[in-house]
Amino acid sequence: MSVPARLLDWYDRHARRLPWRVGPADRAVGERPDPYRVWLSEVMLQQTTVAAVKSYFEAFVARWPTVNDLAAAPEAEVMKAWAGLGYYSRARNMKAAADLVAARGGRFPGTSAGLRELPGIGGYTAAAIAAIAFDETAAVVDGNVERVLARLFAIATPLPAAKEAIRAHQARLTPWQRPGDYAQAMMDLGATICTPKRPACALCPVNAHCRAFAEGNPERYPVKAAKAERPTRRGLAFVAVRADGAILLRRRPPEGLLGGMTEIPGSDWPDKAGTGEGAPPLAGGWAEIAAPVIHVFTHFRLELMVHRADFAADIAAPADHWWSPSSDLPGEALPSVMKKAIEAAVPGATKKRR
Ligand code: ADE
Repeated sequence: MSVPARLLDWYDRHARRLPWRVGPADRAVGERPDPYRVWLSEVMLQQTTVAAVKSYFEAFVARWPTVNDLAAAPEAEVMKAWAGLGYYSRARNMKAAADLVAARGGRFPGTSAGLRELPGIGGYTAAAIAAIAFDETAAVVDGNVERVLARLFAIATPLPAAKEAIRAHQARLTPWQRPGDYAQAMMDLGATICTPKRPACALCPVNAHCRAFAEGNPERYPVKAAKAERPTRRGLAFVAVRADGAILLRRRPPEGLLGGMTEIPGSDWPDKAGTGEGAPPLAGGWAEIAAPVIHVFTHFRLELMVHRADFAADIAAPADHWWSPSSDLPGEALPSVMKKAIEAAVPGATKKRR
């Protein structure tokens, strides 16, 4: 049996049950995936894990069962429901795409080329939606698929240079029949068997075809280019704590790093020597926390000097800031670097109480 046939056969028996998915048994009796649900899930899954997305997906489709419902919803409501999934630019693009599709009568474009015209849909997402919802023989390549194919073909070229070769393999392998199930079989294989560490090769339906398995060290693939040394940037962060436990927050600018997410006030993080400049948001008795908070981003390492000051319960928030009550804080769209900074000043503040 060929690689695609083996994968589909495995998928028929082991497909994960996911709330946006029409499983192989239901597909076989003619059930079709709803393009709205496929689109919504793929947008949510960009940069977020399946485990984190599930409950958000269920809440969204319960509240907004069709793309027309989502388009009719006030943007602020959609943003609030999105909080916690991160990267607000994704949510804004999602809402803009829903508005466009609703304006066209509620029908999504039926091809990957048409889908790519929608805000927030790149090559991967367009291919995934087209394959899953419209049976287009589109080559779907995400991180899981890259790993599976780099191993199957023992691709020694490092990523990202190997991306084109991997795409070509996927384009050649993707079957005319059931391209969406094939893509999802690859994703499931990558998530459950062909894992980054300690892959379960003994259980793999395509181990007989896998050159990395034959070589004896599948973890060697995908080969990654040596990373350039990360530079260090330094900045200031100010945790203002009100007597009732509320913490002062503001929203980051919509574009750029962590665009649109919530943060504590602070300086910029200059990519030159020196610490960013920025005054505290309120005058007060600011004291520096002993150790800086370290956070590693893709392209740099950040050292945040965290300062804390305490304020009376009746103090007003400066313009464009808000006091987040301690009960709301765990639900704020705080990136992990900001959670770390708050935790350094007020241990436990960002954790959900039960
Ligand atoms: N990750 C992104 N899209 C997915 C899908 N359709 N199934 C499983 N994992 C995914």
